[in-house]
This record gives sequence, structure tokens and C-alpha cells, in this order.
Amino acid sequence: MSPETISQTNRSHRHGSNAGQPLTRRDGVLKVTGRATYAADNHPDDMLYAVPAVSRIARGRVTALDVTAAKAHAGVVEVLTPANRPPLAHDPDEKMPPFGFRVEVLQDDGVRYVGQPIALVIAETLEAATEGAALLDPQYETATARTDLSNGDRFDTATVGIGAPARTAYGDIAAGLAAATHVTEADYVTPAQYHNAMEPHAVVAEWDGDRVTLDMPNQAMALSCAAYAAYFGVPAENVLIRSPFLGGGFGSKAILNGPQILAILAARMLQRPVKLVLTRAQMYGPVGHRGHTWQKLRIGTDREGRLTALHHHALCATSSFDEFLEPAANASLPLYESPAILVEHEGLRLDTGTPGPMRAPGEASGSAALEVAMDEAAVACGMDPLEFRLANYAETEPGTGRPFSSKTLRECYSEGAKRFGWAGRPLEPRQMRDENGFLVGWGMGTAVFHCPHFPAEARATLRADGTALVETSGADMGQGAWTALAQIAAEALGLDPDQVEFHSGVSSLPDGGIAGGSGHTASAGLALNNAGEDAIAKLAALATADPASPLFGSGNIGVVPRSGRLHRLDDEGRSESYVDILARTGQTEVIGTAKAARDQEAAAHHAMFSHGAVFAEVKVDPDLGQIRATRLVGAFAAGRVINPRLVRSQYFGGMIWGASFALHEEAITDRRTGRIMNADFAEYHVPVNADVPSLDAILTEEHDPYVNPLGIKGVGEIGITGTVGAIANAVWHATGVRVRRFPIRIEDLVIGRS
Ligand code: MOS
Repeated sequence: MSPETISQTNRSHRHGSNAGQPLTRRDGVLKVTGRATYAADNHPDDMLYAVPAVSRIARGRVTALDVTAAKAHAGVVEVLTPANRPPLAHDPDEKMPPFGFRVEVLQDDGVRYVGQPIALVIAETLEAATEGAALLDPQYETATARTDLSNGDRFDTATVGIGAPARTAYGDIAAGLAAATHVTEADYVTPAQYHNAMEPHAVVAEWDGDRVTLDMPNQAMALSCAAYAAYFGVPAENVLIRSPFLGGGFGSKAILNGPQILAILAARMLQRPVKLVLTRAQMYGPVGHRGHTWQKLRIGTDREGRLTALHHHALCATSSFDEFLEPAANASLPLYESPAILVEHEGLRLDTGTPGPMRAPGEASGSAALEVAMDEAAVACGMDPLEFRLANYAETEPGTGRPFSSKTLRECYSEGAKRFGWAGRPLEPRQMRDENGFLVGWGMGTAVFHCPHFPAEARATLRADGTALVETSGADMGQGAWTALAQIAAEALGLDPDQVEFHSGVSSLPDGGIAGGSGHTASAGLALNNAGEDAIAKLAALATADPASPLFGSGNIGVVPRSGRLHRLDDEGRSESYVDILARTGQTEVIGTAKAARDQEAAAHHAMFSHGAVFAEVKVDPDLGQIRATRLVGAFAAGRVINPRLVRSQYFGGMIWGASFALHEEAITDRRTGRIMNADFAEYHVPVNADVPSLDAILTEEHDPYVNPLGIKGVGEIGITGTVGAIANAVWHATGVRVRRFPIRIEDLVIGRS
């Protein structure tokens, strides 16, 4: 039997229901008992500590560093500066696609943002390294920092994000606006937000000749190995990354950064293991962030409330030395039908670290603006916001007319609205109060996220005792990959998940692809599925060719793996256990391997997105303007659900991010100095338990035959996308005040804000 035959017979038998088992996390006990090892938990013998000294100015150059004082400090071993930094094999000013941004590794004395590494102090203890860094007492020649719209340099760009087009036009936008009976036009501002994963970036680097072992949190192991290999002039197979757990990735741990490269360089220079762990404050600069955006939306509508034009312009901040721009306006491409759609981006150079992918890059900022603009357009048309969205529902991909691989958004709208109780909502704002006199508002937003697929590889080994080992390098950054991926493999292998040992988190394993873009389960999952099917096909070949097997001669009919046995497809009573097949044929194991990539044909002909609808309730103190999100209901359709418990948790996480975006997170830059004034957990607000509303996530049933053979979309980031707008719209509904700048603050409601 060919692997193709078994794949088809397997799948049709296995995928009876949309949702798999709600297993708890495999790594849960390890984590809550503190036994999960994170990068910084590693302490090889003879290890040194590295601490970066970072710039306190945003633009200019370093004119002096007191290296003598730092080196004289007890315990300090070495101080790396641009004057003595050993050479790298790859020019750090040259980018390395796809995720290799320009990195700051002491290539010159220039300062391009606050928090830029300007030296690295290596010492016997963390304290000595920290004190040594403080003794450097940098002197600067300071230029005026570009910190905002008022003094940044605007530039045109062809691409945004990671290679996405900066401009897309369908139809005639001027004609669409001219044909409208009403045009809603407004400006929206989203702030810079910074990666505040619980685990800061860290690395423990240990060289052995020209081989290096890196304990570090990493979302993209194979790409990173290749990039480090290029920087250090060694073959990629000489770089071993161990990343069993990440304390949150957020997108930032898929990308190389200067401090980690410097620590690896120091370890080679000093021939001793070196550990570097960034402080919370040092996370604000060299490891990416979500860039500041200024967005303009123009929505033309006709008498029936149908869009005649949708124009989304985003001005997005980036650094002075790289190009990453938040692909914000592209959020207006996939959702609403309109005869004319124009999305475009412009760049703004500021003296800041380079932004990068962060938790729904593009969609988060862009849909925040779009969903508020859609609410405003609904109000202008005198329509309920949900009715307005249904009137503009895209049956096929706007502009291209391609069919969606699946789109169950209508059901998300109706299931979410029903669960929330949307039907009783008054159209006018400021109509509802609770028993304490607080203003109550209800708002909604549409959630959407694309479905990337990363090439991935896996190996599945069926063992003589009837259990299996499955392996792929990818990382678990808290999303539950260990559990969901093992479930996928178990299903392909016809085993109980308990019988499947799962290994990941080491770059020497088959390439698990990227844990990002909400695509890890689909990508690594498909590789594991295929590896499992390969192992089963090999096992089946052993049985069906053997006259001693009850399955002898079943090769053309096909077999189904279930509960550790292969069953003849047309006669379930004829079966043989894996243990017996292996024992009889004298094999100790059968190894299946596979690569998995997207079917390019299916991808070219279909638009692939996860969808959802989020409904929010807020309560606002009418005197003090204090806002509380009290209730969030999201209904999401993201293809097949592997583990409903974990998927619900992902949606909750996304919705909390959305609440955070709407009401809490903002990095505030001092215009005089370019310093971020709240680079700490005291002043950079993220929601704590008391800020999190009651959450409800509905897993809307969806079958997708095209997105990938398993029908899996992504669930990690979509939750943020509809939620921001839903909360902002609820604030308007509660108060009648339309806030177009995030996060929404008390002062916006009480005194207004320019
Ligand atoms: Mo996500 S920003 O792709 O980790």
C-alpha cells in the first residue's frame, strides 16, 4: 500500500468530529512545580555573566567609555566595545531575510536609540558584570532625537511586515467615495507596545571548538541556527539550540538580536560559557516591539448601508536603520465587501529600536482602527453594528474574488451575539446603566487572522512495545504545543496520546518550522501527522505482505490504525497489533519521516483566514471616567480544533491581549530625550487578574478541506483582533464619546484629549 492510499483512508475514518480531546497540558506539572528548565536556568561549570551597557541617549555617538574603571572592578573579566569587539563573519549591517534584521553588535560608536547596547561587560558574577557596566560612565555627543510624528522622517515603502505589499488597490476609490451617500473619515492612533513576556530574552552560550550550544528561548530554531552560523562562520549543524520552553514568545523570540549575539561572541572570545539575561528595562529597545501607527480610514456607504469605498492609510514608525513596518492597513483587505478598496502604508523614521512582529502584527493595530471606523460608519447609517457588518459580509475575498478555503463568520456572529445577549442593545449611546449608576455599553468587532503554513519536518518511531516516540524541533512558548502536537501524532499513529512520547525544543531534531504566525500547530502538526502515516504505512507493508499476518493480502484494500492495531478497512474484525507485527517480523522499531508544506495549488486558489466575532461590555463611572471591561464573548471559527481546552485558553489569551491593547498598554516616550519613561512593569500596564473581564469563548464548528490536509487553522493571535475594537465601541456606546487613540484613558472620557 502506498503512503498516499493510507493517508486518504486514514483521514476519512479519523476525522469524524471537529473537536479532539480536551487534554490538560503535558508540561503543566513541570511548570507549576518549577521543574521546567528555561534558558536562564542553565549553569554550566566555569560560566561567566555578561551584562550589556546601554545608551541613555536616542541619537548621536559615544565619545568615551571608562573601560579602565570597569576592567579594574573585582570580578570583571573583559569589556567588549566597538574598539575590541572581535570580527563577525556576517556584516551585521546587512539584513538576513526573512527574520534577520540589522542588529546592534558594537559595529561602531553610533547611537540610534535609547537602550542600544554600547558595550558588554563580562564578569565572574552577575553583580560584578552589572557594577562593571555602571562604571563605564559613557560620554556622548548628542543629536536631537526624532521621537514622534512632529519630527520623524516620512518615507515611501514598497513592502510592510515581512515582505507584504505596502499598497493594494481594487476598484476606483475616488469613484467609490463620490458615489457614497455618507463618508465616515477619521484618524486613529495606536501606541508603541513592548514585548513583556514573563521570560526576558536570555542565552547561555558554550563553545567547544567551532561548535556552539545555545540555551535560549527560540521560536524559529532552524532559521536561527542558519543565522548564527552565518554570524560566526561555522556550518549550521555546528549550532545547537536548546529551547525546551519559552516564557512567552510574542514574536520577538523568532528574531536575532544584538545582546544575544554579543554574549555568544564573548563566550567564543573567552573560551568559557557565558550567560546573558536581559533586564526588564533592557527589553525596551533591542528585541523589537509593536510600532506606533497613525491611521486614517475613509469609509463610503450608500443608502442601504453598503460600502462603496474602503480606504485605509497607515503611517507606521520604524527605526532609523531598518524597515520593519506594522502591516496595519492590510487588516482592511480580507473582511468587508466593497467595490473599491485601497490600503496603503508609509514609513516614519524615529530614533527607536526597530519594531518587529508582535502578537498579531498588522492585524492587531489595523483592525483596532478598522473596527472602530466600521462602528462609526454603522452609526452614520443608523444601523446596528452587527447588522451593518452582515450587510457588508464578504462571500468571497474582497478584490480578488477568490473563494475562502472556509469562512464560518456568519455563525460566529450569530452564536456570539446570542450568547452575549446582543439583541436587546439600544442603538443610541448612553442608554444603559447598572444598579450602581455606572454607564453600560455594548460593542462588537470582527476578528480575522491569516493562516500561514511553515515548512516543517518530523519523525515518528513505532516501538516494539507498541508505544511511539515522535519528534520535531519546534517550541512550546506556553500555547500548549507539546500537548496538541502529541495528540495529532497519536491520532495518525492510531495510539492513545499517553502512548506517545513527544520530543521537541532542540534544533537537532527534525525542523519543526516556526512557532509563530499562529501557524505552529498546523505546520508542525501536519509534519507529525505525515510522519505518523509514514510509520503506519511501513508497518502495514510488513503485515500485508506476510502470509502469517491476518492482514495478509489487504494491501490494495487498505488498513486503518486504531488502538495500537491495524484493522482491515473492509473487515474490522481482521486486525493485528503493532506489537505482534513488529515481534513477528523481528523489527525493534519502524521509523516514519515526513516533510510538510502547503499545497501551493490550494493556496493560490483560496483565501485562508480564521474568523471570529467579539462582543464586549464595559462599565464607565460617569463622574470619574473610570473604564472597566466587564464581559467579553468571542466566537471563533478556526478550522479543526485539536484540543478544545487549549484552544479556548488561546482565545482567552488573545482576548486579554485585546483588552490590554484597548485599555492598558502603551510605551510613553519622552520627547526631549527619546527615552521610554515606563520601561518597567510598574508603569507599563498590562492587565492583571482584576482587569480581566468575565471571558467566554465559543469554538464555532468549521470544516476546511483546503487550508491543509488536517483542516487546522490558527488560534493564537486572532483573539486580539476583534477585541480591541469591540471594547472601544462599547466605550462609545456607554458614554457617547468616540475615542480614536489607544489605549483609551480616563482623561479621554472626562476632559477629552488631543
Ligand atoms: Mo507571532 S508575532 O508570529 O509570534
